[in-house]
Amino acid sequence: MGTLFKRTHMCGILREQHIGEAVVLNGWVQKYRNLGSLIFCDIRDKTGIVQAVFNDEVDRDIFELANHLRNEYVVGVKGIVSKRESANEDLPTGRIEVIVDHLVLYSKADTPPIYVTDDDNASEDLRMKYRYLDLRKLKMQRNLTLRHKLCRLTREYFDSEGFVEVETPMLIKPTPEGARDYLVPSRVNPGKFYALPQSPQMFKQLLMLGGTDRYMQIARCFRDEDLRADRQPEFTQIDLEMSFVDQDDIIEIQERFLQRVFRELADTEISLPLPRLTWREAMERFGSDKPDMRFGFELKDLKDQVENSDFKVFTDVLSSGGRVMGIKIDGGSEAFSRKDIDRMTASIRTFGAGGLVWMRVGDNDISSSVSKFFEPDELEHISRVFYAEPGDLILIASGAESVVYDSLGFLRRDIAAQLGLLNDDEYKLLWVVDFPMFEYSEEDGRYAAMHHPFTSPKTEDIPKLESDLSSVLANAYDIVLNGVELGGGSIRIHDKSLQQQVFRALSLSETEMSEKFGFFLDAFNYGTPPHGGIAYGLDRLAMLLCKEKSIREVIAFPKNQNAVCPMSDAPTFATAEQLVELSISVNDIEEE
Ligand code: AMO
Repeated sequence: MGTLFKRTHMCGILREQHIGEAVVLNGWVQKYRNLGSLIFCDIRDKTGIVQAVFNDEVDRDIFELANHLRNEYVVGVKGIVSKRESANEDLPTGRIEVIVDHLVLYSKADTPPIYVTDDDNASEDLRMKYRYLDLRKLKMQRNLTLRHKLCRLTREYFDSEGFVEVETPMLIKPTPEGARDYLVPSRVNPGKFYALPQSPQMFKQLLMLGGTDRYMQIARCFRDEDLRADRQPEFTQIDLEMSFVDQDDIIEIQERFLQRVFRELADTEISLPLPRLTWREAMERFGSDKPDMRFGFELKDLKDQVENSDFKVFTDVLSSGGRVMGIKIDGGSEAFSRKDIDRMTASIRTFGAGGLVWMRVGDNDISSSVSKFFEPDELEHISRVFYAEPGDLILIASGAESVVYDSLGFLRRDIAAQLGLLNDDEYKLLWVVDFPMFEYSEEDGRYAAMHHPFTSPKTEDIPKLESDLSSVLANAYDIVLNGVELGGGSIRIHDKSLQQQVFRALSLSETEMSEKFGFFLDAFNYGTPPHGGIAYGLDRLAMLLCKEKSIREVIAFPKNQNAVCPMSDAPTFATAEQLVELSISVNDIEEE
């Protein structure tokens, strides 16, 4: 294989202005066509593709070598940039070509198992198995570059605001963020385990106690939880903490950050201040604490309209403290058939909904799945709540409040997607504030922290820590973009006895408190500044900026839905020797 031709230009940048210049390019063969005395060969690097031409009249030996080029061979070419006879306007370099006079073959390639083009249609597991081929796609290189720019801008911005990047440890005591921990055995401390951080939460707070004042970190986090399009077992946060600030200070500094991100990386001007909704308002209007604000279909409460009806399903739900709510889909009557509505009904059963009532508003009447239980004027009253017009479709869910919120919140977005209303170029950011401090877990039979246990309750709600946990609100806020929770944070507790009180509300015994958090509580004895912060999901922000549907598209080497890396096959079994050394015995597990 030949010696290196030192590159003068990247492939994708060549234009008509380069015509006449001698250039050296390095890259992969994307495509070749042999027309007898001419060979056309597309050469690709991360910047794009350019056509190289081999002419048997220029150099017979080089032409012979070019004749053996195949897809994904790695080459260097020297040649002259020339005007292309028939321009390819689909390609940025499509008006020129390089007439090659020297060729070097760096390495050959087997037939690639996936096509290296953005629209290869390969299964995701195959793409991940051959990720190094997948990453050659221009789209993937663009995504990685945009992510890099986001990291650079983040560091620049927060540096200019007086933040210092500090690395926090990876081998730690568990930090509670609501997921399972990844554990790492300690060889020198037999039987003991570190946890990988679910977030740097306790450490960033301890940095505030340590006088760092403003901390930032592009931080790796690890959570063993069910994976989805926007969740990976290891992911990255833009993690921030500030001393001597209140919620408005934090929001203000974040809004200017977001404005710069969208201005510089999405060419979009975001007007400030961003809208703020309380958690309650978000749930009541959108059925979600991460509402997508790119479209309407707001939820309406229908208690007044149905409580005296003959429809027992609704009246029973209301008398047992549940809710009856609906959404209106403009023009939805024609857009959605009976079958579509059956599918919607099936989809909300996963949230615990019993069924879905529909109403179609006609020119002169309203037809409905429950028309035999309602007088025409009762249906009319319902339709008036929505200001419905002929052609509209109304969908009504009933049940426990959370079931109704979840069902209609899901349908709203699902229907908007089906109607093509989710425009990737539109960025609707908002803050959701005043979250409940606790949520009740039926499974565990106790309250859990909705954010994390270091979040401060609203001062006026502190007395309720002893009486009514369900109504305590927190100084917590989420930043939401197009229906995705981009980040979340809070003002922290900085008073030891209040922190202990919250731990007790979370059913932690004194022993558990001192075992798990003793070091943290002790630190509060030595002077604690009021502080608060936030963390963004960097992968999620990059995903939305790249207009992707999954964070796997902006992570170089992601895991699949089973938390497996299809390329390296991690995780793997440990050897018997390793386990002995770690004092670990593993139950018999059948190898697949
Ligand atoms: P939280 O748990 O809300 O808060 O996480 C902050 C943000 O991190 C992103 N995120 C994830 N991204 C990809 N995969 C995951 N598995 C995943 N889990 C979370 C989300 C989320 O909004 N310590 C607190 C922050 C604070 O209070 O300052 C925390 O971690 O975008």
